[in-house]
Amino acid sequence: MSFFSNLFGSASKEEEKMTNPKLKIGIILGSTRQGRVSPQVGEWVKGIADKRQDADYEIVDIADFKLPFLGEGTGQEPGLQAWNEKLASLDGFVFIVQEYNHSITGALKNALDSAREAWNDKAAGIVSYGSTGGARAAEHLRGILGELKVADVRTHPTLSLFTDFENGSVFKPAELHLTNVNAMLDEVISWSGALKTVR
Ligand SMILES: Cc1cc2nc3c(=O)[nH]c(=O)nc-3n(C[C@H](O)[C@H](O)[C@H](O)COP(=O)(O)O)c2cc1C
Repeated sequence: MSFFSNLFGSASKEEEKMTNPKLKIGIILGSTRQGRVSPQVGEWVKGIADKRQDADYEIVDIADFKLPFLGEGTGQEPGLQAWNEKLASLDGFVFIVQEYNHSITGALKNALDSAREAWNDKAAGIVSYGSTGGARAAEHLRGILGELKVADVRTHPTLSLFTDFENGSVFKPAELHLTNVNAMLDEVISWSGALKTVR
């Protein structure tokens, strides 16, 4: 504790900024299929996030890790280790979630199951899409995150395959989502910072 924090009882916001490096937030693409639209959505969220300058944001693409299906590999695959290391390096997450049969993709579930401690005591936001905004998939994800000790924030931008995409494939988000994405990020940053203190 410094002279100033001793004097005032707790570290000032300025002092905190100087001692705490920027939070690292991973924007996780939940789909891996050929022709997927998740990279467009992820890049859009990253573009909004980067303007805030309140954290280091990066796209984390599950497809890059070539994760084995849980229990079917040796457990020693480099991708599996890299996946755990990547998650361990992050303070929080934004999940880009697409609805597949009223739930999340198998790829995302497998990726969630492929790590444990690396998820714990971190925060997450969800941006989802589907015919009804991907709401059903997002609600399933919230249940899973609870088990992994990931605190999912309330604000949840929902994108419609009908009105936010042209022909369901070219992403053209409505202006109104911007406010919601920023509100979600506010919550992710606040909780990610708070949870860092309990790890
Ligand atoms: C196997 C499968 C099941 C789907 N089930 C649903 C569904 O239950 N509800 C929905 O709104 N959209 C559903 N969709 C549409 C997807 O949400 C849509 O294709 C979306 O673009 C998928 O995300 P991606 O392009 O990132 O893979 C389904 C798509 C696939 C491939």
